[in-house]
Amino acid sequence: MSYRLLTALLFAFALVFALAGVSLGQSSKTPKKDETKEDEKPLTAEEMHEMMEEVEEAWNKLKIHARNKMGDKAASAADDIAKAGPKLLRYDGKVLTGDNKDKLAREQQDYKDWAAAMVKAAEEYAKYARKSDWDKAGKEKDKLNDTCGACHKVYQPAKAKVLTLDEFKSLMDDIKTSWNALQKAAKDKNAEKAAAEGQALEGHARKILGNDSKNAEGKLVREQEDFKKFAEALRKAAEEYAALAKDGEWTKAAEKQTAIGDGCADCHDVYKKKR
Ligand code: HEC
Ligand code: HEC
Repeated sequence: MSYRLLTALLFAFALVFALAGVSLGQSSKTPKKDETKEDEKPLTAEEMHEMMEEVEEAWNKLKIHARNKMGDKAASAADDIAKAGPKLLRYDGKVLTGDNKDKLAREQQDYKDWAAAMVKAAEEYAKYARKSDWDKAGKEKDKLNDTCGACHKVYQPAKAKVLTLDEFKSLMDDIKTSWNALQKAAKDKNAEKAAAEGQALEGHARKILGNDSKNAEGKLVREQEDFKKFAEALRKAAEEYAALAKDGEWTKAAEKQTAIGDGCADCHDVYKKKR
C-alpha cells in the first residue's frame, strides 16, 4: 500500500468518525434537558386542589346520573375522572408518615397504584354505564369510591379547621399565653409544667394552618410554602421541647426554646402586618 493511499484512507476514517460524532452529539441534544414540557411539570398546590375539586364534582355528577339511570351522562362524568389520572401523578406533595416520610408521594408504588386503579375503575364504569349494564357499573363505582378513600387516607394532609380572623387572633393569644407560661416554667425548672406548656403550644400550632387570610396576590396564606414551613417549625420545636423538658434535659430544651421564639419571629416578619 502506498503511503499516499494510507493517508487518504486514514483521512477518510477520521472524517467518518468526525461526522458520526457530530450526528451523535446532535441526536443526544435534540430533546432539551431542562425544558420540561408543560404537562409534565409537578402541579402547584393550587392546581392540585383545583384538579381534585373537579374530580369531586365529576364524582358527584356520576352518582346523580347513576341514580337516575342516565348511562351516557354518568359515563361522561367517569371519563372526566379518568382524565385526571395523569395529573394525579404530577402531585408534588410528600409522604406524611412512616419510614418514607417526606419523600415524594408520586414516587411511591401504592400512590401510583391507586391512581391507576382510579383510572381503570372509571374507564370500566364508563364502559358499562354506556351499555346501561348497571350491575357491573355498580361494582366499578364501588371500586372507584374505594380508590379515593384509600389514597386520601395515606396521602391527603389533615386539614386544620378554617378560622375566622377573630378566631385566628384568639389562637395567637393562646399561643402567646402558653409561650409565656412555658418560659416561666423553664426558669423555675418545673419540668412537668414546662412539658405541659410545650404540649399545649404544639396543639395550638397545629391549628395555625386554619388561617383564612390572603396575601397581597390574593392567594391563601395557608397554602404558601413558607407559611406552612413556619407553622410546622413551631409545632416541631414545641413537640421536641416538651419531650426534653419532661426529662429535665434543660440544656437541650433551651435550644428548642430559642427555636420556638425564632419560630414566632420568622412567621411574623413575613405574615404579621406591622401596625
Ligand atoms: C392517588 C391518590 C388520590 C386518588 C386516587 C384520589 N385523590 Fe383526591 N386527593 C389526593 C391528595 C394527595 C389530596 C390532597 C391535596 C392537598 O391537600 O394538597 C386530595 C384531595 C382531594 C380533595 C380536597 C381538595 C382540596 O381542595 O383540598 C377532594 C375533594 C378530593 N381529593 C376528591 C377525590 C375524589 C372524589 C376521588 C375519587 C374519585 C379522589 N379524590 C381520588 C389524592 C388522591
Ligand atoms: C406560621 C405563622 C405564625 C407563627 C409561627 C406565629 N404567629 Fe403569631 N401571628 C401570625 C399572624 C399572621 C398574625 C397576624 C394576625 C392578624 O391580625 O391578621 C399573628 C399575630 C400574633 C399576635 C397578635 C394577636 C392579635 O390579637 O392581634 C400575637 C400575640 C402572636 N401572633 C403571638 C405569637 C407567638 C408568641 C408565637 C410563637 C410562640 C407566634 N405568634 C407564632 C402568624 C404566626
